[in-house]
Amino acid sequence: MHLAHLRLRDFRNYARLDAEFSPGFHLLLGDNAQGKTNILEAIYLLATLRSFRGVGGAQMVRHDHKGYFVGARVVGQGTRQIRMYWSATERQLSLDGQPVRRLSDYLGVLRAVVFCTEDLQLVKGPAARRRRFLDLLLSQTHPTYLPLLQRYTAALRSRNALLKQSLVDAMAFDSFTQELVSVGNQIIALRRELVPRLSPLARLAYRRIANDAEELKLAYQPSVKTDFAIELAASRARERSYRMTLVGPHRDDLALMLNDQPAAQFASEGQKRTLAIALKMAQAEYVTGLHGTPPVLLIDDVMGELDVRRRSGLLPLLERSHQASGQVFMTCTEENWPRELGRRLQRWIVSAGSLRAVDSAPTP
Ligand SMILES: Nc1ncnc2c1ncn2[C@@H]1O[C@H](COP(=O)(O)OP(=O)(O)O)[C@@H](O)[C@H]1O
Ligand SMILES: [Mg+2]
Repeated sequence: MHLAHLRLRDFRNYARLDAEFSPGFHLLLGDNAQGKTNILEAIYLLATLRSFRGVGGAQMVRHDHKGYFVGARVVGQGTRQIRMYWSATERQLSLDGQPVRRLSDYLGVLRAVVFCTEDLQLVKGPAARRRRFLDLLLSQTHPTYLPLLQRYTAALRSRNALLKQSLVDAMAFDSFTQELVSVGNQIIALRRELVPRLSPLARLAYRRIANDAEELKLAYQPSVKTDFAIELAASRARERSYRMTLVGPHRDDLALMLNDQPAAQFASEGQKRTLAIALKMAQAEYVTGLHGTPPVLLIDDVMGELDVRRRSGLLPLLERSHQASGQVFMTCTEENWPRELGRRLQRWIVSAGSLRAVDSAPTP
């Protein structure tokens, strides 16, 4: 699948942009603060309906304007047309001219994996970061996952609201508890199934890019050890004092172990960085394996941070994407783009919210 056309209106520093992209490798070059990352953000937004910068819609609207528009033509098995509009008062999302009613119908039209400096938080940050990583991957690969997650979140919120009241409505409480347990168990099952499949991919990716021979392992760390309903019931006394739900998949974690030691505590900075990239490579490999086509890879500034050895570890992933007619967007400054990628790339100059294709320089 590839993004064939991108249209932006009042998105970040783009007043208007219309760009055609072929499959293959696109290098977005430009000085700082010109709008390179903003392009990747827009593509990621189309794929996941979220910003990878973790901000809401308001920040993405061009300053002093009311709303943004992001549109795309995606070419995969067929051609799909996406149109998205966001303002403080109005949100629209349409696919092939029809409003999208269920997110499960939408996710999967464009699949993307982003590599960015914030990925380091997957290793260093709180468990919520790693849950979001699992959730996104499951949403990309299981159409039923996101609706489950939304039901779980709604039940959790209602249940927590009741726990905050002094007089709890027992019937309502029981019904939210039942919903929480039944939906929660399905979420746990899907996460439990995913992690052992992801772990060998991450281990392989880590080996490719690491400067050392450490062994990476991922392990699912569920909050529920054996039986959700029983453990939830057993936590009632503590729930009463904390006034919130203390057991359940909203408390899960994904353990990242290097040579059987938790990476967050024992890994060096370099190892953590490598690990973060390995997780994203594993995500891309997993999506590719499941769907037969590679996701669009969005690589923001990370190439410049990597030494030659680790850069070359990423190349097989890019090469496979190339062979499968996938698409890669990579941002770089003029100085540090990876010249080892050779000639098969389209260069673009990004400057003050505009994009200009550069003809490939003839090779001497
Ligand atoms: N909502 C917005 N409206 C207008 N300009 C914005 C908005 N958000 C960010 N910008 C501008 O976008 C530029 C940064 O874009 P970015 O894509 O992060 O740059 P880079 O090329 O360094 O990746 C800055 O000039 C910033 O002022
Ligand atoms: Mg940037």
